[in-house]
Amino acid sequence: MVVSDILNKENLSKQDIVYLLTIMEEFEIKLLFAKADEVRKKYCGDDIHLRGIIEFSNHCDQHCLYCGLRLHNKNLPRYRMNKDEILNTARFIFKAQIQTIVLQYGEYSFYDFYEIESIINEIKNELDVAITLSLGERNFEEYERWKAAGADRFLLKHETANSKLYSIYHQGDELENRLNHLRYLKSIGYQTGSGNIVGLPDQTLEDIADDLLLLKELDVDMASISPFIPSPETPYGSEAKANIDLTLIATAVARIVLKDVHIPATTALGTLDELGREKGLKVGANVIMPNYTPNPYRQNYQIYPDKKCISDDPLACGACLTLMIKSMGRKVGRSKGHSLKIINKPI
Ligand code: 5AD
Ligand code: FES
Repeated sequence: MVVSDILNKENLSKQDIVYLLTIMEEFEIKLLFAKADEVRKKYCGDDIHLRGIIEFSNHCDQHCLYCGLRLHNKNLPRYRMNKDEILNTARFIFKAQIQTIVLQYGEYSFYDFYEIESIINEIKNELDVAITLSLGERNFEEYERWKAAGADRFLLKHETANSKLYSIYHQGDELENRLNHLRYLKSIGYQTGSGNIVGLPDQTLEDIADDLLLLKELDVDMASISPFIPSPETPYGSEAKANIDLTLIATAVARIVLKDVHIPATTALGTLDELGREKGLKVGANVIMPNYTPNPYRQNYQIYPDKKCISDDPLACGACLTLMIKSMGRKVGRSKGHSLKIINKPI
């Protein structure tokens, strides 16, 4: 097979994707990255959208084998920001001219439904921003009520499209159930985001190809392809970290397969490699999600160790990212950065 032939196809098969994930020659990788950048420019332009994240609690009642927030990690001091702290952080993000606020926490089914509803209400009444919820699996009625309160988007990564591995990583939970949640979220009008982790133990290249095809089938508005980073207080603490080149190749292929979706250059990519986020932005990504969780909480949102910018002052983040974006010849997006599928839809 020849890489340039695959890249000229309108739709890639699973076999094509697996082939692209195996390429090693520098000239082939360059061709792939150039194509991904071209597709990004065509569908997203040069804007890089910033989404300000507030990790408002690190409580979690799940047991994902890879995640440092898992319930059984008793060595992690747990926190929960109160409503005023969350609202103040949202105001701070808005002042930094970022128009999407991501409310994220571990997956804690007992976190107060009404409190989240009133936080969404107050943010939407006061600030002209889009809200993304990243709260794990909740019940369908809660999704509906939060949507009615003004939430715009929901981020729920499928993590892996291999249902056997999904059940192993998540202690018996079923992938199909996760997918039902994603489909439901979409059906009630959320812009949906999902995504996978590259380099998890026992994962194959076929699995990664399935991840990308699943994202296409789900017709997501945002797709996050992030690398696995072993977290010491988890059963996978001594496993190997993801390969940065494979993660970048998977990101590039995701852009080519999915076309008009938002793709973040993830914090995990920046943690794996000092220049990881810049590299991601050059091979298809068009979003960065700076962390605005205030001190002293931010160092305890430890999904994995040495998280990029963990000890930084959130005040410095905006300026640092703007500089990085300009130095790449790109622009900071000054809109809410809604789904490209909505924006580009013919009226
Ligand atoms: N490495 C990389 N990503 C991880 N996540 C959780 N643990 C890890 C890890 N060890 C990701 C999951 C989750 C998101 C909040 O963090 O994809 O959805
Ligand atoms: Fe936080 Fe650079 S992104 S300091």
